[in-house]
Amino acid sequence: MSEILLEMRGMIKRYPGVVAVDGAQLTLNRGEVHCLIGENGAGKSTLMKILAGAIVPDEGEIRIAGDAVTIESPNHAQQLGISMIYQEFNLTPFLSIAENIFLGREPCYGRTPIIDWPTLYSDASAILNRIRVDLDVRKPVYQCSIAEQQMVEIAKALAFNARIIVMDEPSATLTDHELDALFTLIRNLTEQDIGVIYISHRLEEIFTLGDRVTVMRDGAYIGTDAVADVTRDSIIKMMVGRELKDEFPKETFDRGDERLRVDGLGRDGVFKDVSFTVHTGEIVGLTGLVGAGRTEVARAIFGADELDAGQIYLDGEAIRIRSPREAIRHGIGLLTEDRKNQGLVLGMSVRENTTLANLKALVRGGLVRQREERSVTAKYVDELRIKTPGIEQTVQNLSGGNQQKVVLAKWLFTHSNVLIFDEPTRGIDVGAKVEIYKLMNELVRRGVAVLIISSELPEVIGMCDRILVMHAGRIAGELSREEATQERIMHLATGDSLAAV
Ligand SMILES: Nc1ncnc2c1ncn2[C@@H]1O[C@H](COP(=O)(O)OP(=O)(O)OP(=O)(O)O)[C@@H](O)[C@H]1O
Ligand SMILES: [Mg+2]
Repeated sequence: MSEILLEMRGMIKRYPGVVAVDGAQLTLNRGEVHCLIGENGAGKSTLMKILAGAIVPDEGEIRIAGDAVTIESPNHAQQLGISMIYQEFNLTPFLSIAENIFLGREPCYGRTPIIDWPTLYSDASAILNRIRVDLDVRKPVYQCSIAEQQMVEIAKALAFNARIIVMDEPSATLTDHELDALFTLIRNLTEQDIGVIYISHRLEEIFTLGDRVTVMRDGAYIGTDAVADVTRDSIIKMMVGRELKDEFPKETFDRGDERLRVDGLGRDGVFKDVSFTVHTGEIVGLTGLVGAGRTEVARAIFGADELDAGQIYLDGEAIRIRSPREAIRHGIGLLTEDRKNQGLVLGMSVRENTTLANLKALVRGGLVRQREERSVTAKYVDELRIKTPGIEQTVQNLSGGNQQKVVLAKWLFTHSNVLIFDEPTRGIDVGAKVEIYKLMNELVRRGVAVLIISSELPEVIGMCDRILVMHAGRIAGELSREEATQERIMHLATGDSLAAV
């Protein structure tokens, strides 16, 4: 068998107003992890959707194990040994793991339509064993964690005898522990000569996992290198086309008045005794392991979930927030980590999404002042470097990272006094991250109190004035900017000395 599993050359895909993929190329060897990186909107997902048969390219040549092919459909891609693991999994929740792995191809008795359950379960177990994953194949998928569902997707790919597995930002939703498990699993795949194409914005993963790395920019091919021959700085330069001097452009301001104070917040079984303040002039970080209760605290402050105990104060005054609408009226904004479900109306345009939460600011005499609406939107598109052919583009057609930037624009336009950012840079490329950090500086300069929830410790350490660490539903400790190190934060975050809620 040929050493080269896949060659894609001169790939082009045009959409109205954009060339999503503009002469891209990629080769994949047997047993290789090939990282595909590039800024938001660079064309990574589009190139991989072409490979998976979900999109028909306008031009380009694809060879599988040396043979030229035209990939006609997702089914055809599957027959060719190509599997793509999307971020939104394609599983049926109320069926078991085993049924999902063999969906539509369950082993049956003879020529009958009667499923041979013992064989189904043992075949499914055999596949999971091949990748050394220990899961009960009878468990329904709705009971599986995100990480387990991802493993089921990979097992499903193996059941189709995939030789090429594409993972598009698989790490974005995983905890550190789950990430280790994923890396082990990927190594098991490559040991079996499967080639893996791995897309991620977390550059450190490339160095842990990758054999080679290909960089795309504006749909075009920039270059391919062995991971051993690149540095973080050199690949950043390839990605953004310039040197990135400072990944964390933190500015410090004088700490002003207390803006937000929460005192003894509790929600039964979720978090307890949560007290902290955020002043003007500062950025406060809220970190901890996934599941520590950070997002839940933010949701409760924002009125999305009910509180069982505690009091919220805004500018020294006790307030009650019973719904997100009330929070917004008080000038509190929450940027959620899950842009698909909470942040955006996918069928609406960039303009409509940007102004949606604060349309009243644009209304005079009962009419929306459209010219102002357009110019406001254009300003954010420019400031946040949102890659879109225009402000009327449907948000659905933007790349993942650019959708996240629209969520940001929307909240910036609400002119909140308190902004809570939940994982603000997840899925955002390195260059755009810096822009977002600069914007946070700008918000603080204007007197907005900023609270950042993040699992990215370098980000928290790089941008926050104070860092609160949560563990098992409580604040386990607070560190100043000067005190904070990754080790100290991890120590508090795993704090076994503290009792759980
Ligand atoms: N169906 C579509 N219609 C119009 N434009 C599209 C469509 N799909 C993608 N695009 C555009 O093609 C470009 C490439 O998008 P793609 O999703 O491939 O980027 P990406 O590299 O995966 O980015 P990210 O890192 O943000 O996920 C973007 O400018 C995007 O807006
Ligand atoms: Mg993408």
